[in-house]
Amino acid sequence: MDILLGLQWGDEGKGKIVDFLAPHYHTIARFQGGPNAGHTLHFDGVKHVLHQIPSGIFRKEINNVIGNGVVLDPVILRKELAALQSKGVDIRQQLQISKKAQIIVPTHRLIDAASELAKGDKKIGSTLKGISPAYQDKIGRAGLRIGDILSPDFSQRYEQLKAKHLTTLQFYNFPTSGQINNQPYELALMEHDFFAAVEFLKNECTFVNSEYVLNQTLQEGKKILAEGAQGSLLDIDFGSYPFVTSSNTTVAGACTGLGIAPTKVGEVFGIFKAYATRVGGGPFPTELNDEIGEKLRAIGHEYGATTGRARRCGWLDLPALRYAVMLNGVTQLFMMKADVLNTFEEINICTHYQLPNGEVTDEMPFEVVDMPLKPIYKTLKGWNTNLENLHSLDQLPAALATYIRFIEDYLQVPIKLLSYGSDRKDTLHLA
Ligand code: GDP
Ligand code: IMO
Ligand code: MG
Repeated sequence: MDILLGLQWGDEGKGKIVDFLAPHYHTIARFQGGPNAGHTLHFDGVKHVLHQIPSGIFRKEINNVIGNGVVLDPVILRKELAALQSKGVDIRQQLQISKKAQIIVPTHRLIDAASELAKGDKKIGSTLKGISPAYQDKIGRAGLRIGDILSPDFSQRYEQLKAKHLTTLQFYNFPTSGQINNQPYELALMEHDFFAAVEFLKNECTFVNSEYVLNQTLQEGKKILAEGAQGSLLDIDFGSYPFVTSSNTTVAGACTGLGIAPTKVGEVFGIFKAYATRVGGGPFPTELNDEIGEKLRAIGHEYGATTGRARRCGWLDLPALRYAVMLNGVTQLFMMKADVLNTFEEINICTHYQLPNGEVTDEMPFEVVDMPLKPIYKTLKGWNTNLENLHSLDQLPAALATYIRFIEDYLQVPIKLLSYGSDRKDTLHLA
């Protein structure tokens, strides 16, 4: 099994590259996260955004698996599946869902909103998809799993969980109807949609013990690509806690989230943008709150694929990237969105942080959330070239080659793939 994951704060372009690499694999498998993810694919002039479905779904010959480590919202899944069916995707054939994947119920979403509201200006900036409450119930051994929808007492189990959630909502003094972000909600209606979606899934989907399916696939000598969601700097253990998501986005998450042993892991593809973005709260040492940041946002269309929020933009942060490379044991790097830097005369790359006491470090300090880190930059020349017609290595502008080499030298891992446009075809193998 090979693993592809984001090395920054998400939205590195994972969907695009999984779709690009998919023909080399038998199975594409999601292992963590849920509808907080938004993975964009672009081919034949059409853009597709996937939230819970693996990015191999548009290739008929490929098996797609939603693993046990994922938290699934049936309502969102139903919408995604219905949209795919209308595009001719045979979901029963092309998608298998782990019975052990946890369910996001409507009250998880309300608790997410209540918790964020209570945090005031310390809010995480959650996507409000119910991710954290659903993972809390998983760890608290109270959650429901998607395989449970097949059980005759599912609605009783649901009511039990809902009763627990209602006490939490009372604690927050959060009503069961009202508005979230100017959108009206009503728990009774949300539940109606939920149970309709559950019925749809029962009729249309294939539920499996995916750990057996995946290990059998490997046993038969077929290849699996595990598709990460979010990014390493949002990892529950290693991200800038508490400004993180609620799952292990790093490489070990692929093993627990699919039931595949570490001994079966082959390549680890680490994917990063040629600059940096973050959506939601939390530290971002190289953030640019100026016209350069605005320019990156405008050219890179840096608006969330799930929430539409403007993404914060900044220069590439190499100490953070090296941290992610270390945590994941990355064997190959893929650099994305190089084209966004096409018109920059000079490009900064952060190589070290200066701490408030003057100390200089290239490590991620524990106090990253509580103390400002001043980035120390190396300035490189921009390539000032349109990359639109880049088709071979010998067309690579010298300044871009220097940029790539600088990053490789720092990280001690080769950059094997360069992406210079959102379309499938705007991708170049570098070695
Ligand atoms: P993911 O969550 O990692 O799959 O990334 P998103 O889909 O949330 O965000 C990446 C965005 O960048 C999407 O809109 C992609 O279509 C787009 N994209 C991916 N690669 C490139 C690239 O090389 N250049 C440009 N300009 N856009 C890209
Ligand atoms: P993909 O897979 C970027 C961020 C949120 C918030 C924090 C916690 O598309 O790269 P959560 O909803 O998980 O409780 O939010 O994590 N976040 C993402 N940022 N890309 C994502 O997914 C994200 N999923 C969650 O913005 O800061
Ligand atoms: Mg995304």
